[in-house]
Amino acid sequence: MYGKEISRILVSKEQVAARVKELGEEISRDLNGESVTMICTLRGACVFFADLIRAIDCDMEIDFIAVSSYGGGTSTSGEVKLIKDLSSPIEGKNIIIVEDIIDSGVTLSYLKRMLAARGPKSIKVCTLLDKPSRRKVDFKGDYVGFEIENEYVVGCGLDYDQRMRNLPDVCVLAPEVYS
Ligand code: IMP
Ligand code: MG
Repeated sequence: MYGKEISRILVSKEQVAARVKELGEEISRDLNGESVTMICTLRGACVFFADLIRAIDCDMEIDFIAVSSYGGGTSTSGEVKLIKDLSSPIEGKNIIIVEDIIDSGVTLSYLKRMLAARGPKSIKVCTLLDKPSRRKVDFKGDYVGFEIENEYVVGCGLDYDQRMRNLPDVCVLAPEVYS
């Protein structure tokens, strides 16, 4: 069903759905009846976020933040910029930052440090995908959907130059596209 820009499906939408259900159950259990603010990192996490929040059974607020570390292309610039801040304060709240992927770890370590400085009660990170082999800074997600190899992926919210976020599955981008 996909064109020549895609090499293959890496994680199918059915696998994502099953894992989202498990993560939702785990997060609900860990919250142990407390409220949570789920924070969606725009734009990549939006698809995963919409599914995940509906798999969590607890009192919840949602908020959105946007940072950018990529100028374009497929590797990080190492610089993180705050593009859109949260709409509400998080002091004293349990927060979970939801990301599409942890790659170098630069974006999330910046984001977590910045939000921790605002005095939340607790702060955790949930990511759909994790590429541990690509770390430039030490960073570990609290909830990880899938660990993947060092391949550039698109779909399920993830983009290549802002395109292909709408593909239902997590797909490997054909190397000809970016090399
Ligand atoms: P990090 O700061 O290097 O961990 O980069 C995190 C961000 O890089 C993610 O939120 C994505 O936007 C982007 N990114 C890293 N790897 C990929 C990929 O394979 N496909 C699409 N985006 C990616
Ligand atoms: Mg992103």
